[in-house]
Amino acid sequence: LRLKIAVVVGSARKGSINQTYAEALEKLAGEGMVFDYLPVGELPLYNMDLEADMPTVLGDIKARIQAADGVLFVSPEHNRSVTALMKNTLDWCSRASGGNAWAGKRAAVCGASPGARGADLSQMHFRQIAVVLNLEILPQPEVYVHVKDGLFTEAGDFASERDASFQKRFLDRFADWVATA
Ligand code: FNR
Repeated sequence: LRLKIAVVVGSARKGSINQTYAEALEKLAGEGMVFDYLPVGELPLYNMDLEADMPTVLGDIKARIQAADGVLFVSPEHNRSVTALMKNTLDWCSRASGGNAWAGKRAAVCGASPGARGADLSQMHFRQIAVVLNLEILPQPEVYVHVKDGLFTEAGDFASERDASFQKRFLDRFADWVATA
């Protein structure tokens, strides 16, 4: 069984550590999952007026969420909350044609930060938002990655066996969560 996972990375910048982290997870997941990175950076800033003439990328993103077995959110924290990109994505896909694309979807959240607390508060806000979206987030483990030099190898894998095995257990729990929906 190969699970199809739609992936939202909450930072669109070149060199994003969260993009690197997502790709490290993709490699750890191996044959068990196929990651589909959603082009959320292409969505305009949400404005209800734009719903009259929907951005085509929105339909594309919503269809890819629909087609996925589960959704993985990998995001940094901005000012102790979700990034604007994350909130914009959540808002757009909760609206307009086809309705709320998140409803009943099984998902997981994780994130990386150079801060010691590894983006923990943003994930608490994220979990609060997920309630109204009816987005079913894996309760445990909570995954707060504190990024320091040497966390990833040059090839973008987790350098330590300890980190790799924790992240692999997270992916296994996520796979079970998605498969039992
Ligand atoms: C940050 N950063 C940050 N880090 C953190 O741990 N807690 C926070 O509240 C914030 N707040 C914050 C606000 C803004 C506007 C920026 C630009 C940055 C630092 C952040 O974790 C760091 O820039 C990461 O490298 C962002 O992740 P990406 O873009 O590398 O994936």
